[in-house]
Amino acid sequence: MNTATEQAHAYNYKVVKQFTIATLIWGFLGMSMGAVLAAQLVWPALNFDLPWSSFGRIRPIHTNLVIFAFGGCALISTSFYIVQRTCYARLPSDSAASLFFWGWQVMLIATVISYALGYTTTKEYGEMEWPLAIALTVLWLMYMWLFFGTIARRQTSHIYVANWFYGAFIIVTAMVHIINHAAIPVSLTKSYSLYAGTTDAMVQWWFGHSVVGFILSVGFLGMMYYFVPKQVQRPIYSYRLSIVHFWAIISIYIWAGPHHLHYTALPDWAQSLGMAMSVILLAPSWGGMINGMMTLSGAWYKLRSDPILRFLVVSLAFYGMSTFEGPMMAIKTVNSLSHYTDWTIGHVHAGALGWVAMISFGSLYHMIPKLWNLPQMYSIKLINVHFWLATAGTVIYIAAMWVNGITQGLMWRAINDDGTLSYSFVEALQSSHAGYIARLSGGSLFVLGMLIMLINTWLTLRQTKVQQLPAAQTAEV
Ligand code: HEM
Ligand code: HEM
Repeated sequence: MNTATEQAHAYNYKVVKQFTIATLIWGFLGMSMGAVLAAQLVWPALNFDLPWSSFGRIRPIHTNLVIFAFGGCALISTSFYIVQRTCYARLPSDSAASLFFWGWQVMLIATVISYALGYTTTKEYGEMEWPLAIALTVLWLMYMWLFFGTIARRQTSHIYVANWFYGAFIIVTAMVHIINHAAIPVSLTKSYSLYAGTTDAMVQWWFGHSVVGFILSVGFLGMMYYFVPKQVQRPIYSYRLSIVHFWAIISIYIWAGPHHLHYTALPDWAQSLGMAMSVILLAPSWGGMINGMMTLSGAWYKLRSDPILRFLVVSLAFYGMSTFEGPMMAIKTVNSLSHYTDWTIGHVHAGALGWVAMISFGSLYHMIPKLWNLPQMYSIKLINVHFWLATAGTVIYIAAMWVNGITQGLMWRAINDDGTLSYSFVEALQSSHAGYIARLSGGSLFVLGMLIMLINTWLTLRQTKVQQLPAAQTAEV
């Protein structure tokens, strides 16, 4: 591919741009919902005694918006960008791509409305009632066809490793979504799971952990494998390591689900298997982190002046941290302290804010000027401000939750000599109040950073007409 003009004709950038804008808008909305939840845990009166604004309804709106709307749109936009550029091929159909974009947005809006009205399967991250779950399945199959259809049309013999990761994320998400949502509908808005009791719980957490493993980890590793080498302007540290840790991570993640069900009715052997697989997961997870970090060998100095690279590297550091913490929390004795406490919430957001959101920010800051054929974002200074807000926000958030979580775990298990509990639940809750205030401030900094990114992007797009690059300057894979 020689020039940017040729590229523009050869690749479908329209759908990439659409999903990019959608990522930023959904990101701001989804994270704001997180801030509302954090505020409600400080001031419960903010529930306003209305059903649709209660914590229980806003929580799944937050989780679904940040995972499927923000994370989903970020993964879809970057996967379409990468698969086209690394395969030198256009998506198989423009109209299907457009239909997929609008279908995805309508499904997300309908999902938010249905949760606000209280329609839910109650299965975490899989709360969509059956009509929406079917819509998601159909849309996902379209996505699968668009992505793999591009790979099938490729002009190169090999398939770049980022596409392997995106491919695994797409296939496994379809598989676990369909199996976990198997249900018997009793009306348009209510269905009952096909599975019962412990089996239902196991299938749910096989799905739940695969959302963590294949959407929040493997998918974003695909993003990492393209944008880190691009931004550093060096090849990936080890292609061999990327292949080894790819096969290891996808074969192990699927087995780790039972660590969500320690000390439950799940058979003990299944819990122990989940624990063992989770501990082993540390190795392939760190394989990805090390491969990304080592790509900077000899180029660390670039961090001093490049805030986009800083986003990417700090995200890898948080990925390394949360994938060390996760295996530790999967050990049954550690889990007996951490489970049900805010420690889990801290772990979630170390991964969600530190890894998922930060790698997306770095990647989008790299991609946006390329998509609109501009030299750079409107303001590098604002990217830097965003970086510090996001980093400080994440650290405050997770530190507050660690302190809260360990305090709660210790207070709940403390017993007097006569065997009675030393503290009531309310006492543990009262001691968590300061941590909730700290989490609200950390989370608000993070949301503010997201807003700054939205504004910076808007200012960047406004200058498209004035500052566009001569075509040849943006021509690269
Ligand atoms: C911008 C700042 C954010 C704030 C202030 C925030 C706040 C919150 C709060 C208060 C909860 C409920 C915790 C509880 O039930 O005790 C929560 C749950 C959750 N959030 Fe966030 N969040 C933010 C961003 C994100 C992002 C970007 C993601 C994912 C990419 C995410 C994923 C989740 C998940 C998965 C849960 C459920 C955790 C669990 O059940 O263990 N959040 N968040
Ligand atoms: C080697 C990798 C990882 C392992 C072994 C692992 C392990 C765990 C464990 C043991 C829990 C607590 C389960 C409980 O007590 O209920 C947990 C919760 C969670 N982890 Fe991880 N984790 C890993 C990486 C990640 C990453 C990178 C993310 C990205 C965001 C993440 C997101 C979550 C979420 C969302 C939950 C809460 C699930 C829920 O209860 O709603 N984890 N993880």
